Amino acid sequence: MERFSILVGDITQSDAEAIVNAANTTLLGGAGVDGAIHAAAGPELLAECRTLGGCETGQARLTRGYRLRAKYVLHTPGPIWRGGEHGEAEALASCYRSCLLLAEAHGIRTLDFCSISTGVYGYPLPQAATVALRAIMGFLADHALPERVRMVCHTERAAEVYRQTWNLWYAEDKGQRM
Ligand code: APR
Repeated sequence: MERFSILVGDITQSDAEAIVNAANTTLLGGAGVDGAIHAAAGPELLAECRTLGGCETGQARLTRGYRLRAKYVLHTPGPIWRGGEHGEAEALASCYRSCLLLAEAHGIRTLDFCSISTGVYGYPLPQAATVALRAIMGFLADHALPERVRMVCHTERAAEVYRQTWNLWYAEDKGQRM
């Protein structure tokens, strides 16, 4: 499906209308992609985040992008991996769906995701990729917006896991393989 693609890059440099931040429930910044996005967006982002009063795991909040090329940032706290028996998959799927619904509600046409929960929060990449792709592809099948969604992986290794997962579940023939 040309509406979805996987690439390797730094999401803070994305030219998508909106990018997704793997935040925490305080929305007050952190390390990883959260730290990178706040550093690139500048202090106004934190100032706006302070007005939001936090965000529950699996939900999403929209802010402006400030000094980022992206117009908006969608902040979503992913689940912390605790072995897979504590509702992590449902919470992670909810992160993706919440961001997609919020993007659609704001008429956002291009959205770049980062690989939520697969860094500090320890979610194993193969399991996270299966959950993420099922949520994204399921949403795109029923919704016209966003028109384009990309998974922006920070490393080639992560991108390869997403590509292999996509090929396993969504490539109907060799020609569709990523
Ligand atoms: N661009 C794209 N992806 C990135 C970037 C970047 N600049 N920096 C990191 N990543 C990737 C990581 O490689 C990982 O695959 O983002 C994914 C998510 O990793 P984390 O940023 O560690 O986020 P997460 O695992 O969801 O943990 C969230 O970490 O930074 C804190 O405040 C954050 O408490 C929250 C927790």
